[in-house]
Amino acid sequence: MKSKIDIINKLKKKLNAVILGHNYQSPEVQDISDFTGDSLELSKQASRTGADVIIFCGVDFMAETAKILSPGKKVILPVRNATCPMANMITPQQLRDLKAENPGAPAVTYVNTTAAVKAESDVCCTSSNAVRIVGTLEQDKVIFAPDRNLAHYVSTRVDKHIVSWPGYCYVHNSITALDAAGAREAHPDAVLMVHPECRPEVAVMADHVVSTGQMFSLVENSKAKSFIVGTEEGMLYPLGKRFPDREFFPIGPGFICKNMKKITLDKVIKSMKELEPEITVPPETIEKAASALGRMLELS
Ligand code: 13P
Ligand code: SF4
Repeated sequence: MKSKIDIINKLKKKLNAVILGHNYQSPEVQDISDFTGDSLELSKQASRTGADVIIFCGVDFMAETAKILSPGKKVILPVRNATCPMANMITPQQLRDLKAENPGAPAVTYVNTTAAVKAESDVCCTSSNAVRIVGTLEQDKVIFAPDRNLAHYVSTRVDKHIVSWPGYCYVHNSITALDAAGAREAHPDAVLMVHPECRPEVAVMADHVVSTGQMFSLVENSKAKSFIVGTEEGMLYPLGKRFPDREFFPIGPGFICKNMKKITLDKVIKSMKELEPEITVPPETIEKAASALGRMLELS
């Protein structure tokens, strides 16, 4: 009997498909992905792939981003309702209102937004380039939405007035200072690295505030033997796989993004056979959102 991996590989060839998987996907999904990475790395892969079909193992805003950057390709999200709640915390109208209240301030939106919100934005950013992108803008006042924690982190790194929005990631926002203190006490020699979606009181306790992709380079360039990982717990798998001689500890129990975990090998196979659910974005939205994403890629 053919294994699920054999079936996926055969379908991949037949469709000329590429499988992109976010660092938070389950180990089995990461293992069948052609590329794994953080949201910026996956956006770059999506923009330059020669494949006809992109199977995006992540959440919907990431698959939408792939479609905007590669509109001629078929983009499949194996589970229709794998969504990021934060991406739905600001609507296009709310962003337009914010812009009207702050005339002249450019709108920087986190990629964790809908395509329609990106279309209203001047430039997008991810957790790995937010500080750099805001820093390159000439204006002193900048709108940053929707993640209030990332906005706060950026405001500690750039000398600008940041107008933020009260969105948040329910996974990272539930990590508390008590979790960070408990992990430090349990692993006193470990380096504490946390994602910038964490609350300010957690970020301030960390040795490093980094995106999931930046966690790899941090470990690579560090002489430390152990690390406390302050992000969604899926991240422990690729870190352990790439650095088998180091130890990685979660910052606390149960920090799981349920939507990221909806994708399984069976769902990947079904979606490749049916070429559904397909991600579509209206052409006029693609055009406007592509300009904000393109500007991000230029500045990254
Ligand atoms: P990264 O940019 O680190 O991939 O983060 C995306 C995300 O959704 C974090 O919760
Ligand atoms: Fe969204 Fe948080 Fe899940 Fe990332 S971890 S996809 S920000 S809910």
